[in-house]
Formats: sequence, C-alpha cells, structure tokens
Amino acid sequence: MSSHSPSIEIAKGYKVNYDFKYRLSRRGFLAATAGLAVSASLCPAVASGVDERSIRIAPGQARLTGQDGLSTAVWTYNGAVPGPALRLRQGQPVRIAVENGLHEDTTVHWHGIRLPNAMDGVPGLTQPPIRPGESFVYEFTPPDAGTFWYHPHADSLVQLGRGLAGPLIVEEAESVAFDRDLLWLLQDWRLAKDGQIAGGFGSAMDASMSGRVGNLVTINGIVPADLDVRAGERVRLRLVNAALARMMALRFEGHRPVVIAIDGQPCEPHEPENGRLVLAPAMRIDIALEMQGDPGSRHDVIDDFYNGLAYRLTTLAYSKAVPIRLHPLDAPLALPRNPLPKPDLANAVRQEVLLQGGMMGGGKLAGVGGMMGMGMPGMNGTPAWAINGMSMTGDGHAGMAPQFTLERGSTCRLTMRNETAWWHPMHVHGFSLSVLSRNGAPVPHRQWQDTVLLAPKDTIECAFVADNPGDWMLHCHVADHQMAGLMTVFRVT
Ligand code: C2O
Ligand code: CU
Ligand code: CU
Repeated sequence: MSSHSPSIEIAKGYKVNYDFKYRLSRRGFLAATAGLAVSASLCPAVASGVDERSIRIAPGQARLTGQDGLSTAVWTYNGAVPGPALRLRQGQPVRIAVENGLHEDTTVHWHGIRLPNAMDGVPGLTQPPIRPGESFVYEFTPPDAGTFWYHPHADSLVQLGRGLAGPLIVEEAESVAFDRDLLWLLQDWRLAKDGQIAGGFGSAMDASMSGRVGNLVTINGIVPADLDVRAGERVRLRLVNAALARMMALRFEGHRPVVIAIDGQPCEPHEPENGRLVLAPAMRIDIALEMQGDPGSRHDVIDDFYNGLAYRLTTLAYSKAVPIRLHPLDAPLALPRNPLPKPDLANAVRQEVLLQGGMMGGGKLAGVGGMMGMGMPGMNGTPAWAINGMSMTGDGHAGMAPQFTLERGSTCRLTMRNETAWWHPMHVHGFSLSVLSRNGAPVPHRQWQDTVLLAPKDTIECAFVADNPGDWMLHCHVADHQMAGLMTVFRVT
C-alpha cells in the first residue's frame, strides 16, 4: 500500500481509504469514549419471572465516524448500530419479541447460547424465516454466563454487512471483582466514497479469498476516540468481533492483558502468546486489564493481524488522577465455570470435517467436490468451498441433509482439517467445544469455544457432549465463505 491509495474525507480532518487494504487516520475525532460501560444497573440478586424484551429490526442511519461525520444508511436493531446490549441473567428465562421492519426475510441467531433448537434462528432449518412485517418470539433460558452476541441468519452477508449485530451479556449469578465492566463490539465496514456502504456483496473474489474485509473499523458503532482510564483500576473488557471477515490481533502497548474467558466460557486465566489477542469473526475474548500505567500516560491499542497493515485501534488515556489503589487487587481473576457437560473421551464417537476449496497459489481454485467445470466457483452464488466434498450455500433452508448424526448424550470427538490456503473461524451452533489439540499439540488453559479459528492447513481436535437434540449448523463465520459453501449440518437425535 502506498500513500496514493484513494482516500476520502468523510468528516472534518478524517480520511478513509476506500481501497480495502486501508489505513486509518483518526485525527479530528475527539467525541465519544471508546468503551461502553455495561455494569450500570444494580440488579436484584435473585432472578425471578420471565425477562421480557423486544427488538425491532429496521433501516436507519448511523454516524460511524462521529457526530460531525457523514450519515450512513444502515440496518438496525431498535434503531441503533450495534443493537442494544442485552444483559440477561444466568438461569433466568427470557422472552424476546422480534419484529421485522425490513423489506426482506430475517431471523435472529443468539450466537453461542446453548438453547433449544427451535430458538436457534436458522431459517428453514429451525424456524420459518420472519417475513417483512411479521414477528417471532424467542424464548430460552441462558445456561451459561458470559459474552455472546446476536445477529441475523438470513441473507447473512448483506444483513451483517449493513450493521445488524448486537452484544448479549449473560451475567454471572455471583458478582466478580472488577472496577469496571466494558464492552467493545468491533465491526468492520466497507464504505464507498460517499460514506455509504459499498455494494458488491458476494463478489467472486471476496467469496473465494479472504471475504469482504472492510475499510473502517468501529467500536460500539463509532470510530473510537481514546478510552479514558484511571491508574490502578482493574477492568474487565469484553471483546466481540462482529466483522464479516476481518481477523484481528490486538496488542495493548505497555499492558499485559489476561484472558479470562473465550467465547463466553471461562478458561484458566493466562496471558496470550506474545501479548496478542487473536480475535477472528464471531469470536469473543474477555480480558482482565490491570491499569498499571502512570497517571497522564497514553498507550496505543494496535491491531496487527495482517502483515504490513497494522493500525492503531484506540489509545488508553490515563487521567492525571492518583491511582485508585497502589497495588493491583488480590482477588483472583478466574471466573466461575459454566455447567458444561464433560466429554467422555474414552467412549467418544469420532467425526471428521474437511474444509476444502478457495483460491490456491497461482490464482487457481481448488477443486470443490464435484463442482469443478461448472464455471467460476464463487460466482453468482456457485460454491467456492466445501465440507467433506459437499457445498451447502446460503444461510440454511429446509431439507438440508445432515452430514452426520449423533446419539443424544454421546460424546463426539470432532477433528477439523483445513485443507485450504485460508483462515476459517469454524462455528458450531448449540454447543461449546472443548478444544483438545491444534496440529497435534495439546491446547492449554482448559478452553471451550463455539468458534475455533483454523489457520491454513491447521488441524483441530475438539470434543463435546451431544446433549441437545436437533439439526445444528457448523460453518465458517467469514460470511462470504459460509454463503459460498463452507457450511454443514449435523443432527442430534
Ligand atoms: Cu454466529 Cu451460524 O452463526
Ligand atoms: Cu451461532
Ligand atoms: Cu472461512
């Protein structure tokens, strides 16, 4: 990338490159704080009754670059991008009435929540799509506390790309010791020169390569200003990557974040390798940040996932105030574990999932099942990817034949092999996976994930108890990849 890449001024002093290998400049952005406090209300200690919520989905406008910036036409949950932070309580039933004010079908998927199949939000497979003007009531009781999110599962590439995504937080029954609980829902937008969302969703290049990576990253719907912090505080920061395709690797300069949960599931607290938090689309990581910088100091938060395309996401800006405490808190960082069923590895059923397709070296497309010779894969909705030789495209529809069937209560030991030259965050609905090994090496810290990132040629082994009956999706969460065939279904009977 040279400095000649096309850029436009979408707000005073603020330029954005519309070439997708972009570089951000945030000068001139002083409004809005980068963190959204989520621990505002003092909730009653005992969960009781049904928590009633409602969400209306409709087109709207957002100023992604700040109050003085251009207004972008987006699609919204309750008028906002991202949608409202739903804070639920572990073990308390919730009823969420969703009304579709779009001109096309939609559904809501509660990503990562272990819930009844009929509430999973996959059109055709688990429910009829919600037609324009119609409603659907979702009812479930979240069994696990943690950081989750919600998004459509219909026309996913376009609907997510137009902004439909929201955070879902399930609070621990017992309180945990943090001074502040912050949430960053990260979105990645591909904006055109006029500040509007660029067309060209599902192009053959995006579909068969890295997906629709954008040119503007927002935190909680806005280009981040500084995050104001106070020396001595212990912050819980919940990171959600709600991008269509952008992988992220965050570094907090001068700080040592400790990972305390992945995909909503507590793990053994640990510092990430090289201090980098690798966050693929749909993944969540909760970190504990001890604010040990000096009063008045500033520390950048950098995303350097893509070689040569590192950029500053935001800056931790310490107030001049004296530290709120002299020594870090003693209270342990480990979060209470969720009630996940323990896999019985000795008696596990083995299943293998091969990820195939995509553009290979030299601009050649890999053979996808029997699909070669049918024109350019990835073009006009033809498959570019496959799982075990089969391409399921789109979002889900009636009559999707399951790839494999598991007996209820059995343990499945699942191997996923990435035969492609691309990264894939593989997501399973309805379950959390105990991640056992990566390329033969054991994965430490007792990690459970619903979205597991596979680097090119990686092999991952994981296990789960098939305790939840129904037809469940397993797909790549790079939206273009899912739409172009990197998806399958399995059944639990
Ligand atoms: Cu975020 Cu099919 O899921
Ligand atoms: Cu999901
Ligand atoms: Cu993928």
